[in-house]
Amino acid sequence: MAVYVLEDKLFVLETENTSYSFCLDAQGFLSHLYFGKKIERKEDFFVPDKYSGTNYHPYRDAFMEEFSSFGMMRYKESALKVTFSDGTKDFRYRVSGYDLENNKLSLTLRDAYYPFEIMLCYEIFEENDIIKRFVRAVNRGEEDILLERLYSAELGIGERDMEIINFAGNWGAEFQMSADTLRAGKKIYESLRGTTGHSENPCFILHKGATEDRGDVYFGLLEYTGNFKVCAEAVSYGYTNMLIGISDTDFGVKLGSGECFETPAAYLGFTENGFSCMSHKLHDFCRRELMPETFADKPLRVLYNSWYATLFDVRCEEQKRLAEKAAGVGAELFVVDDGWFGKRNDDNSSLGDWYPDPEKFPGGLQELISYVNGLGMDFGIWIEPEMVNEKSRLYEEHPDWVYRFPNRDVLQCRNQYTLNLTKEEVVRYMIECLDRLLTDYHISYIKWDMNRPLGETGTCGENAACCEGDLAEQKEVWVKHIRNFYRVIKTVRERHPDVEFEACAGGGARVDLGAMRYFDEYWTSDNTDAFDRLEIQRGYSLLYPAKYMRAWVTDVPDALTGRSMPLSFRMHCAMCGALGIGNNLNRMDEAELDCLKKGVSDYKRIRHIVQFGKLYRLGELKKDELVGVQYVNGEESVLFVFLSRCRYGQREYRFRMKGLAENKLYKVEGRDGEVVKSGAFLMHYGLTLSMSGDYDSQMIEVREIS
Ligand code: GLA
Repeated sequence: MAVYVLEDKLFVLETENTSYSFCLDAQGFLSHLYFGKKIERKEDFFVPDKYSGTNYHPYRDAFMEEFSSFGMMRYKESALKVTFSDGTKDFRYRVSGYDLENNKLSLTLRDAYYPFEIMLCYEIFEENDIIKRFVRAVNRGEEDILLERLYSAELGIGERDMEIINFAGNWGAEFQMSADTLRAGKKIYESLRGTTGHSENPCFILHKGATEDRGDVYFGLLEYTGNFKVCAEAVSYGYTNMLIGISDTDFGVKLGSGECFETPAAYLGFTENGFSCMSHKLHDFCRRELMPETFADKPLRVLYNSWYATLFDVRCEEQKRLAEKAAGVGAELFVVDDGWFGKRNDDNSSLGDWYPDPEKFPGGLQELISYVNGLGMDFGIWIEPEMVNEKSRLYEEHPDWVYRFPNRDVLQCRNQYTLNLTKEEVVRYMIECLDRLLTDYHISYIKWDMNRPLGETGTCGENAACCEGDLAEQKEVWVKHIRNFYRVIKTVRERHPDVEFEACAGGGARVDLGAMRYFDEYWTSDNTDAFDRLEIQRGYSLLYPAKYMRAWVTDVPDALTGRSMPLSFRMHCAMCGALGIGNNLNRMDEAELDCLKKGVSDYKRIRHIVQFGKLYRLGELKKDELVGVQYVNGEESVLFVFLSRCRYGQREYRFRMKGLAENKLYKVEGRDGEVVKSGAFLMHYGLTLSMSGDYDSQMIEVREIS
């Protein structure tokens, strides 16, 4: 058992290495006591005395709380804001009971006057040192109740001046790590895009001078794909208060009689062993608990995607020639990206018309699929189900299906509109359309894209184009959209359980645990320049697993950056995740195709280490010319090293490995030949590598021999 309740008022949640504790305090509130390294003696936790400060202070803010609500003279950011039908705006609760079942605990907080309940839910994942939290709000009365904010988790950390890490990205520049010190006030990371977005991520990492290998790190992630908010507050009573959940900006849920609202889950963790350990715990947890079962324990196939080779100019014969070469270099899955449907010759038209363009596929799409299958590869296709172009049959037939305000022009982004997923008929259309595609054709992989953020999310339900409903209902659109997005993908997966789904949103705008629940991998970024990618992949890897990270080798000069790098460097960079190939194979010479083929075959040999191993980040591009990523899976390890710039004639570098057993012997094979060394030597002295020139790289395989 991992949850203990002492004297009905002290709650201690234990994982293998951490303790989490809170109590019912003398005033009847749930005070948060501790989260951190495991304290074996549970009896040491105690209910604090009454607040001993002066009565000039509204004292609630002085306590870390398990669940704070707006009002009651609390002035910090709180987890709940609710308005009752008579205008009362605070929540004065008493804990009416708790329920304990194996690794799950829930507590019911009931308002002293109004028939309104909050249920705080916890689940412990002992081996991964992760605690899941979510909240349920229930209206047990007759009158409507308006929920204006409900975070998934609140976490007090009894320290100040903590450093917080999130990301400050953009399209093509996802996962740029950003760090700030929380000295006073609030720091907010938020998405109002209706999806996670390229910029910030629904997560937090808090620490005080931690490194990859050492130091206390607290972390939290939200299982949600829509508007989110992470609020870190340096409360002036000497602690840091974290909140993570759905954003309360333009959020509102009207709870009618008997109705309930459940937040998405937040996952909280702690380690005293630095960022690598945090990543290991999270990567493993994701695979065990969140990834869809079909592929969670299987290595992902090497795919070829023809997007960068042909863009919108998709033609059956050319795709066949690409397919032959893709099969020749060892790809296992051939994917046709954007441009195969409707009259899609650029990004101005046809989203919504998901039937093959007869001019591009005179013999039908199945002709190409059969050809691809005949070459021994599976077939996959791109689709952007939530979107529609004005120039499309779908929009002509259903102009009322897009999000719009009644007296405004609809805003466009990449020339497209977003379908109003709060309408049942749109949900039905989307399910049928995907179902038909997967039933009519032998498709074994879908790249599900979403290339614009939501705009005018003001109308909902069956009320067609204009708003007739209650204004409070208008604010539910954001959450209803996501709920129905999950419904669509869940239904389609249930009907087609063997199909692999990739989540893409103009690159990495849907990298979150919400998408992970329903997709088998993410497209990390539209930026495939290997040098930029090293940084993007590094930031990504802090929280998300390599297995989930599709990474492609593409041509040079790179379309985005104009940079050229050797094929081996590009290949090694893409081999750090789930390998994909995006080159125009029809333009590559035999030597380049051979190099790709060798890379793919190397990758197939080591992919179980990359996709299922522990990932170690070695060096930092911003500081070091030479960086590496090492993966360790049991007795095997593989290391990729990248030299961005050769300077001052240096040709030898000593590189220390990680994650090996000190007293074991390892055979180390790379470009420089083969050596046998002890784990201690490789980790403390290091491996001497000869590297030279700009953009040199190596793959080194390490195998235990004793
Ligand atoms: C987005 C995706 C790309 C590609 C294009 C197609 O930008 O991120 O990988 O699929 O759309 O239009």
